[in-house]
Amino acid sequence: MKDQFEQLKDDVIAAATKIADRDALERLRVEFLGRKGKLAELMKGMATLAGEERKLIGAVANEVKSAVEAAFVEAEKKAERGERYERGETERVDVTEPAIGSRPRGHLHPVTQVREDLEDLFTSMGFIVADGPELESDYFNFTALNIPPTHPARDMQDTFYVEGAHGSNGEVVMRTHTSSQQIRAMRAYGTPLRTVTPGRCFRNEATDVRHEHTFHQLDGMVVDKGISFAHMKGVLGIVAKHLYGPETKIRLRPKFYPFVEPGVNGEVTCYLCKGEGCRLCKKSGWLEVFGAGMIHPNVLREGGVDPGVYSGFAFGFGLTRLVMLKYGIDDIRHLEGGDLRFLNQF
Ligand code: PHE
Repeated sequence: MKDQFEQLKDDVIAAATKIADRDALERLRVEFLGRKGKLAELMKGMATLAGEERKLIGAVANEVKSAVEAAFVEAEKKAERGERYERGETERVDVTEPAIGSRPRGHLHPVTQVREDLEDLFTSMGFIVADGPELESDYFNFTALNIPPTHPARDMQDTFYVEGAHGSNGEVVMRTHTSSQQIRAMRAYGTPLRTVTPGRCFRNEATDVRHEHTFHQLDGMVVDKGISFAHMKGVLGIVAKHLYGPETKIRLRPKFYPFVEPGVNGEVTCYLCKGEGCRLCKKSGWLEVFGAGMIHPNVLREGGVDPGVYSGFAFGFGLTRLVMLKYGIDDIRHLEGGDLRFLNQF
């Protein structure tokens, strides 16, 4: 009887290993392990055995049963692999194909669009785009720009001072303007120099439709031998025409900024009324969009440039303001608000 069991085991295992599809495997299972299957048949015969022998054969039967079951598990795995392989042979899946109903694509923020447009214009004139940190030392943001501690000009910009900033020695501020990049650029690249620095700036404003704690500027500078006010006016005129069309004129009026001398407040003819005077330009015919001036000798010196040999001009556009004017946005808070109902209009 023991031999019969062993024989059965060998038969099943041999049969199971040959089988590759699940239907045939299921038939085999019924044939051997089913209620009326061959194993059950043999077990029935055990009833006639007595005492010791019955025990012995019982143990053999159990062993055979688990060996057979294990063989089935293996065979089933194999069958599954085989099916998967077959499917792979007939069905080709192009994993590079875009998904059906793919997610909607976003687009660039209006500030980014205007920023990139100006970066293209300036790089076409030989400027490099020089990035700078938003968390800036008091030194680069103020002191090196001819605004020493206690200078009243610090009051022009209500500043976020940051305590305990990592690795800082001295005071750290959220930069109040992108002019903070000027000294860094001069020290990094030397002369001659043409750079623009677009980026986020921060001031402690009580927010309303025209004031926001976070806004964008685009600063720029040219340093070389013999650079004059006329060069500055020329470059800024090109920018104005690029932004508002070939008829656009610029107007420069004196304004104090500690880091330039002389300094100017820059306006362009109102693109809406062409200088006639309207609601947008508050009947003046002019829109104020930048500050500029000849770089102060103290600032050149801080940048490691000899003001006896070199001169330069610097300018700063209110990038956020340009965007508001371009699209007729009447509330600055929309720009950092992240509301898709607003953003999807651009
Ligand atoms: N940094 C000035 C501001 O934020 C703008 C400016 C830049 C003026 C460069 C002159 C020269 O108001």
